[in-house]
Amino acid sequence: MSNIILIGFMGSGKTTIGRRLSYRLKQTMTDTDKLIEKQQNLSIPELFERYGESRFRELETESIKYLLRTARNEVVSTGGGMPIRPENRTLLRELGCVIFLRVRAETIIERLKNDTTRPLLRGDNPALKITSMLEERNPAYLETADIVIDVDDKTFDMILSEIEEALEKYEATRN
Ligand code: S3P
Repeated sequence: MSNIILIGFMGSGKTTIGRRLSYRLKQTMTDTDKLIEKQQNLSIPELFERYGESRFRELETESIKYLLRTARNEVVSTGGGMPIRPENRTLLRELGCVIFLRVRAETIIERLKNDTTRPLLRGDNPALKITSMLEERNPAYLETADIVIDVDDKTFDMILSEIEEALEKYEATRN
């Protein structure tokens, strides 16, 4: 089993599912947002405020390049915007098996209604922002993914079982 990378919109469950998946598979887990925060010694909102979104996107690309050099048999969860850059889509696919956690806008709106940690959702109408960003990003997620898992209305256990089943099939087709 090589690296497993989780992609998907903010609030799709990448970090929680990544943590649980890594525990089940006995693999270590890296979260690219956490990696960037640690390397820069700043939180994501601070990074956006000080250097802007485009610098953050560069740091995301650097984080994937770093993992390409260092990660072996890891579960990697990514920030929701990671696959926006075409370069990152290629790098993510080089890094390992990419799993897209697909989620509906209504689910995200409900989950993130009290969230204050995502700079991109600040503003007057986060629901509208979520809907339009999701529409814009879904093609990039789909283009990057080896496996697509729909996560709405499912428990973490159901999602994890589906992921494990899909991974088995994925591995079988590659051997
Ligand atoms: C972002 C998602 C966030 C974080 C940053 C930007 C995005 O990660 O990287 O706030 O562009 O969708 P999560 O998906 O873990 O919330």
